[in-house]
Amino acid sequence: MKTTILTPTAEHLELAAKALCSGEVVGMPTETVYGLAANALDPQAVNAIFAVKGRPADNPLIVHISDLSELQKVVSHFSETASKLAQAFWPGPLTMILPRHPQIPDVVTAGLNTVGVRMPSDQTACALIAAAGVPLAAPSANTSGKPSPTSAEHVYHDLNGKLRYIIDGGNCTVGLESTVALIGDDTVTILRPGAVTEEDFKKIVANVTTDPAVLEGVQDATQPVASPGMKYKHYAPAAALTLVQGGFAGFYQVAANSAEEQSGVLVFEGEERFFDCPAFTYGKEGDSDSQAEELFGALRAIDESGCRQVFVRMPKTDGVGMAVYNRLLRACAFRQIQAENLFVLGLTGPTGSGKSVAAKLFAEQFGTVLDCDRISREVAAEKQVLRQLAAAFGEDVVSSGVLDRKLLADRAFADEAHHAMLDGIMYPAITKSLLEALKHQQGMVLIDAPTLFESGAQILCDAVLAVLAPPSVRLERILKRDGVTEEQAVARMRVQQQDSYYRDRADAVLVNDTEVNNLLKKAGELFGSFQKAKKV
Ligand code: TXA
Ligand code: MG
Repeated sequence: MKTTILTPTAEHLELAAKALCSGEVVGMPTETVYGLAANALDPQAVNAIFAVKGRPADNPLIVHISDLSELQKVVSHFSETASKLAQAFWPGPLTMILPRHPQIPDVVTAGLNTVGVRMPSDQTACALIAAAGVPLAAPSANTSGKPSPTSAEHVYHDLNGKLRYIIDGGNCTVGLESTVALIGDDTVTILRPGAVTEEDFKKIVANVTTDPAVLEGVQDATQPVASPGMKYKHYAPAAALTLVQGGFAGFYQVAANSAEEQSGVLVFEGEERFFDCPAFTYGKEGDSDSQAEELFGALRAIDESGCRQVFVRMPKTDGVGMAVYNRLLRACAFRQIQAENLFVLGLTGPTGSGKSVAAKLFAEQFGTVLDCDRISREVAAEKQVLRQLAAAFGEDVVSSGVLDRKLLADRAFADEAHHAMLDGIMYPAITKSLLEALKHQQGMVLIDAPTLFESGAQILCDAVLAVLAPPSVRLERILKRDGVTEEQAVARMRVQQQDSYYRDRADAVLVNDTEVNNLLKKAGELFGSFQKAKKV
């Protein structure tokens, strides 16, 4: 059978609707993942879904409707709680498990007396359901054992030759399957977390719980489960995936120290550049929506890559993060490890703020300090970096393997473009050197970097502390410390970032406006509070 990907025009939807009415299956976009749809009232058509997907017959399907009026064909009772939830979350990524209407064939519900029902918000899905004129049963349109598809290409990849039409609705905006929830009288039990979260339900219904299988898996396969889907591994990746609890630096240690041949990593956007092995990304750190959207595509890319072992960055677990975590746990077959007990604190601030005083205290009482000024000088003596500097600023900035700092400074600070070129060479080299140093650290580590944010090295930090001071105090310190004229000191201060720059980006701010002892006291308290909170 030839499989065609169709754009969602009215004409194409009509074609697909006709195919559905004559008992065929069709690939359908929804906001969550693509579905493999068939007429829910036609047992033979529904049988075809199981055959095409290779799905176990005891795993029931979700019935999709486009209008509340269709509910009466699907459920036998729609409680007040269900009605409130429909009003709040439909159309959208919520599947409600409700008492089943006798007209719904056994093959849809795997013989259960309940049925899963959902009204998708995707316009194309709704138009297709309406054009077919019947509720559509649809599981995710992947081959069983693959991640759910989030684009028409994913569906084509898995099911090419097994169906006539796939409607292309673009990439799914949610990216994870719907929340599946058992709806009782004034109770909700979450069987599969999704974009409608426990927190969302609690605004509507008082009694909301999450089935333990969401985080623990099914412990005893012979026991009955609330949702048959819980029993299945769902997705069996070609590589052995392992979730790593902890921050980025701890993750880097695990990945660097346990890597074998054909190892890879699944990290957050921007982190991939630190790895020499194949590195895949799933969204931004701390942004569950983007992680949800990209996770399945990333898992597919890992499957294609030939990696045998992949370490995975831990997502946040609140809100939609719980759904991301749940899918990852299953992809990892519940394999999780804890990174080394390591807490990396970034220390930054403008010149003359008293940063070095705080760093000295840290070194004496809390842990290792990685001083970026020193690292920068070391890095500038490395062959590879010298070659890059010579290529960018002229061969004469390096003579007999030694950097002419004065000449380099003259050329690099001549204008913005040259300055940026210098940063473009130095910052990555410094960050690489920091990571190399972090590989062997434990406990508390401080990265002391005046340009922590500019260099991108804050990505290595679990928290960042900025030290600020009023301009008059800073001026006085620079004059005393560096033996420069007032004019030179003011010029130096002028090229520094404003206080707001640091305040916007740091996790904590220390204002150093009185005497040194006071700064030491405040810094000591702050370092101590991080140490206590992070148990390092
Ligand atoms: O977002 C979604 O839900 C997508 C799109 C296409 O709508 N569909 C989807 O379907 O993910 P599927 O078949 O891959 O997952 C349906 C899940 C399974 O875990 C199944 O066990 C559960 O819903 N389920 C369906 N009917 C149920 C019922 N009556 N009782 C308990 N669990 C049920
Ligand atoms: Mg599925």
